[in-house]
Amino acid sequence: MTTPLLEVDDLRVTFRTDDGDVRAVQGLSFTVAEGETLAVVGESGSGKTVAALAIMRLLPRTARVEGTIRFRGTSLLDLDEDGMRDLQGDDLAMIFQDPMTALNPVFTVGDQIVEAIRTHRDVTESAARARATELLDLVGIPEPKQRIDNYPHEFSGGMRQRAMIAMGIANEPKLLIADEPTTALDVTVQAQVMEVVRTVQEATGTAVMLVTHDLGLVAGTADRIQVMYGGRLFEAGPTDTVFYGSRNPYTLGLMASIPSAVGRTARRLEPIPGSPPSLIALPEGCAFSPRCAFATEACRDEPELRVVDAASGHATRCHRAEELPDLVAARATATAGSEGGAAEPGAAGDGAA
Ligand SMILES: Nc1ncnc2c1ncn2[C@@H]1O[C@H](COP(=O)(O)OP(=O)(O)OP(=O)(O)O)[C@@H](O)[C@H]1O
Ligand SMILES: [Mg+2]
Repeated sequence: MTTPLLEVDDLRVTFRTDDGDVRAVQGLSFTVAEGETLAVVGESGSGKTVAALAIMRLLPRTARVEGTIRFRGTSLLDLDEDGMRDLQGDDLAMIFQDPMTALNPVFTVGDQIVEAIRTHRDVTESAARARATELLDLVGIPEPKQRIDNYPHEFSGGMRQRAMIAMGIANEPKLLIADEPTTALDVTVQAQVMEVVRTVQEATGTAVMLVTHDLGLVAGTADRIQVMYGGRLFEAGPTDTVFYGSRNPYTLGLMASIPSAVGRTARRLEPIPGSPPSLIALPEGCAFSPRCAFATEACRDEPELRVVDAASGHATRCHRAEELPDLVAARATATAGSEGGAAEPGAAGDGAA
């Protein structure tokens, strides 16, 4: 087997606060292969951004980061500041939910892209400018030759997002971490921005780690998906496997609570009851059990993340993974009986399209 592009092993991130230690990421292990798209999903506060920032080494100093992060075999947590700066914006790049965190309002968009290129490449100003124009064109900015001299505030929200993507991909990173790149945008622009990311990926072979809580965005975009809850990985596997054959009640809940029809056509919108756990005092046992319709005595012991299908690598953190399809079906029948035919979300293993 070839070495994965990114290897995260037992990543733990703790913030010391006056209220106690916030354990934002706990024992997170995953890999990203060259060229693939991995979607990281989960409710607000599940640790998605903290994990992404840990990889980029952009967390504040109050964060204690433990475990191993290897990028192309290099241990990022052991790298000195200079070594890390060489990687950031070059082989390893990140785009943010709010473009204004990445774009400086006092410089033109073009100057910032030129700067991003010349920090890492020994090219002339004019060559970098030509490349910047090309990039703006690639991400779908109209009249890039004129637009390159605009300031960020002269761009619409969608255009700023595109400009940030252009900057992120300027040096053809091996891995692009996109943290909620579209949530601030309307649905049409979201689709366009995702299309841009895909175009870029096809053109450059970049691997993408797409952080989002929008499961709808993930369908048709990601090769694999990993679901986070309370700082832990709850389910991981190929996108279709997780969408149509989830073995985790939390994932099923997430799918049931999104408006877009994923996996099933008839779907009732149903938020997951309760709220995410406190990361200072996690519940005993399975962190999701207080909100889970299928929790039993056994769930007082914390389940391990375990592989349920070796061929696909499908893994889940649930004691009841094997019986889940039957449990879901039984619950659907009961609900249909009492409420007149509402479909239960993402019935595990039914292969519905
Ligand atoms: N600097 C910090 N100090 C203390 N706690 C923090 C800090 N940064 C993040 N956290 C906590 O870490 C947890 C995980 O946050 P994170 O931003 O990773 O969530 P997320 O999954 O990205 O959520 P969202 O979908 O809202 O972006 C949250 O409980 C958050 O309050
Ligand atoms: Mg976030």
